[in-house]
Amino acid sequence: MRTTWNFNTAGQIVFGRDAARQLGRIAGSMSAKRVLIVTDASLVDAGIVERVTAPLLEAGVAIELFTGGQPDPPLYAVNEAVELARTFKPDVLLGLGGGSNMDLTKAAATLLTHGGTCHDYAGDQVVPGPVHPMILVPTTAGTGSEVTAAAVLNDTEAGSKFAILSNHIRPCVALVDPMLMVSCPRSVTADSGIDALTHAVEAYTAVDNEQFPLPEGEQTIYQGRHPLGDLLAEQAIGLVGRHLRRAVSDGSDVEAREGMALAAMTAGMAFSNVGVALVHAMEYALAPVSHTSHGRGCGLLLPYVMQFNSPARPQQMARIAALLGEDISGLSDESAAERAIAAVHRLKADIGIPARLSDVGVTADHLGAMAEKTCTVKRILRVNPRPVSQEDAASILEAAL
Ligand SMILES: NC(=O)c1ccc[n+]([C@@H]2O[C@H](COP(=O)([O-])OP(=O)(O)OC[C@H]3O[C@@H](n4cnc5c(N)ncnc54)[C@H](O)[C@@H]3O)[C@@H](O)[C@H]2O)c1
Ligand SMILES: [Zn+2]
Repeated sequence: MRTTWNFNTAGQIVFGRDAARQLGRIAGSMSAKRVLIVTDASLVDAGIVERVTAPLLEAGVAIELFTGGQPDPPLYAVNEAVELARTFKPDVLLGLGGGSNMDLTKAAATLLTHGGTCHDYAGDQVVPGPVHPMILVPTTAGTGSEVTAAAVLNDTEAGSKFAILSNHIRPCVALVDPMLMVSCPRSVTADSGIDALTHAVEAYTAVDNEQFPLPEGEQTIYQGRHPLGDLLAEQAIGLVGRHLRRAVSDGSDVEAREGMALAAMTAGMAFSNVGVALVHAMEYALAPVSHTSHGRGCGLLLPYVMQFNSPARPQQMARIAALLGEDISGLSDESAAERAIAAVHRLKADIGIPARLSDVGVTADHLGAMAEKTCTVKRILRVNPRPVSQEDAASILEAAL
């Protein structure tokens, strides 16, 4: 039984419209004279990189660009970034992009300081100490990676993803500027936005901290549900309810972009201390079959997993319904919880997230192996409010087919 919890996030958060203009000052406060920007070619083309380099150059900071980032960062991209960093010798790595580029930066910062390969640091709390200083600047509103302890990497040779989880890889500074998200394409806005909702819902409905089933002697970032996580997750769910449809239907709606930027960050603050659960375990099993983005896969699965978890978390599910704008007055928690699930189905349809697994190429033949793989992700599954057997996983997947 755990009776204490702790809370970790980025060392500092700078949030707001045009916050990127403060990068010169921020670099100065870190005594950084050389900054390596880790990003990708699409963000150069979208003019985002220029918005970050300009204030740094104005402040007299020497910069170098690594533009080899790509969705679901492959290990060779991490190695290339580290190689460039070893030559350029930056004081700070600045990760610019969605979760993919930020995770790439976290992995590069780890290897730069501690050597070895990404696999050496896979799992929970394996990174031995502080890593190279980082500023992380998100250009999507979704993963919350700018504040989280995770770097998700893609071993393209093994055909699977794995995570480095450590409080040492949270950045010194998370700089969140919603103006950098205005150019985010519609589908990426939808996929990453529903990922943020999934993070918040999974943290809000997680197993209680007091009941967290952590085996003796094991270390973990995730600690189960606690009051600060609840505050942040509630905030995030309400913000998604109010802003995600708007951000998807009109990318230039700055108020909606700002709301989603805050939602993604607060959801990241919550889940990176409380944990994510069954949706994320299933997404590990879904990704290699469907080749959908992380966010799209999570969003697709979310209401089906909510249905399964609902009996264990009726009050929280009812509150989620209200936070998503449903009128639950006079309803029992159980009926209100049904409204939460229906609200997520509607949100998915409105923003173009596929309704069912069969929409993304999954067939009945895949389900057995997917259920089996889901149950191997124990680090995540123990956060779930209901124990999950392989039969349970199979029936949830069947319902989602
Ligand atoms: N570290 C964590 O805590 C965490 C949490 C959840 C997911 N993830 C990981 O993050 C990745 C997904 O990240 P994501 O959803 O942010 O997407 P992404 O980083 O993969 O970006 C998707 C595409 O959108 C483009 N793009 C991003 N912002 C843009 C902008 N403003 N303008 C134009 N183009 C833009 C990118 O260049 C890229 O091609 C996955 O690998 C997932 O596993 C990490
Ligand atoms: Zn996620």
